[in-house]
Amino acid sequence: MAQVLVTGGQGFIGSAICMELLERGDDVRVLDLPRPSFAGLSARGILEEVEVISGDVADGAVTSSAVAGMDRVFHLAAQTLVGPAASDPLGTFRSNVEGTWRVLEACRAAGPEAVVVASSDKAYGPSTSLPYSEDQPLEPAATYEASKAATDVIARSYSSAAGVPVAVTRLANVYGGGDLNFSRIVPELMAAAVHRREPRFRSDGSPRRDFLHVSDAVTAYLTLADALAAGRGHGLAVNAGTGIPTSVADVIEATGRTTGNEFGKSELADGPPEGEIDDQFVDPSRLFDLTGWRARTDLDTGLREAFEWYRSRPDLCP
Ligand SMILES: NC(=O)c1ccc[n+]([C@@H]2O[C@H](COP(=O)([O-])OP(=O)(O)OC[C@H]3O[C@@H](n4cnc5c(N)ncnc54)[C@H](O)[C@@H]3O)[C@@H](O)[C@H]2O)c1
Repeated sequence: MAQVLVTGGQGFIGSAICMELLERGDDVRVLDLPRPSFAGLSARGILEEVEVISGDVADGAVTSSAVAGMDRVFHLAAQTLVGPAASDPLGTFRSNVEGTWRVLEACRAAGPEAVVVASSDKAYGPSTSLPYSEDQPLEPAATYEASKAATDVIARSYSSAAGVPVAVTRLANVYGGGDLNFSRIVPELMAAAVHRREPRFRSDGSPRRDFLHVSDAVTAYLTLADALAAGRGHGLAVNAGTGIPTSVADVIEATGRTTGNEFGKSELADGPPEGEIDDQFVDPSRLFDLTGWRARTDLDTGLREAFEWYRSRPDLCP
């Protein structure tokens, strides 16, 4: 049984990681804001099984006490939305960048066996070289992208410069039951399907993304931590995705099909959303070579799982 810290553990991916760690029999501690953006632990019914520390990850004293005594650390706490990042760079950099160096400083002192830090495929920026491979440069343009590129570079420097057993994940677009960020396309489609209303779209359906089911995101985190604890992968950044580009229009169509809804396209916006990248998908072969991980959930299966989850929690769907 390991002692494991998940920062941002109230969030979508963090709470799914907590669930899986509990299944494995680990002791789980979460560091998240006193008023987290979403109550993912309650939504998943595991709040009582987890030790929750309320605080800001950018607060060095709080973060040090949260990291103390931990065998493994998953650092996911971040301001994750692109629009709010553009209107509040200072707050976003404080949470995402200062938060990261606070966690890594605490790990340097505490000496866990594995530290996995959430970067993002957004750190590559609007590159036309696709699929993204880990060897290409990070060329962020928007504030959120820059915050994740900084997270990525700072975290890896703690491996080369300070010997912390850290690796960085660059996940594609994660979806699935439990995502309460309704400005994202899949949660919005699911809420619309649950309440039999028309969805609100932020794009014309043309942007392409690599849609990774949350169960595959969780196994990417856990297998990477296992590799780090076994002495492999230190200082690496790894992509995780399906490698398959799927347009937002295709996701709308697939969600309609799997949930038994006919979504009208009349509500589509003009063009792609402002400040967001048109086309993004990743080459996941480095993580496969390191751990044997690959995405196992196809889009229809993942959307069906998501619909079951949202349908069981209509109270959470706007
Ligand atoms: N969801 C995706 O598609 C995706 C893709 C690639 C990378 N990521 C990264 O994975 C991580 C988790 O993403 P998510 O979708 O679960 O996000 P989320 O918004 O659901 O969860 C983030 C959590 O961090 C917490 N948080 C924010 N600022 C904090 C602070 N200063 N101190 C403590 N806690 C703070 C929030 O309260 C929230 O619970 C993020 O770092 C994100 O950048 C997400």
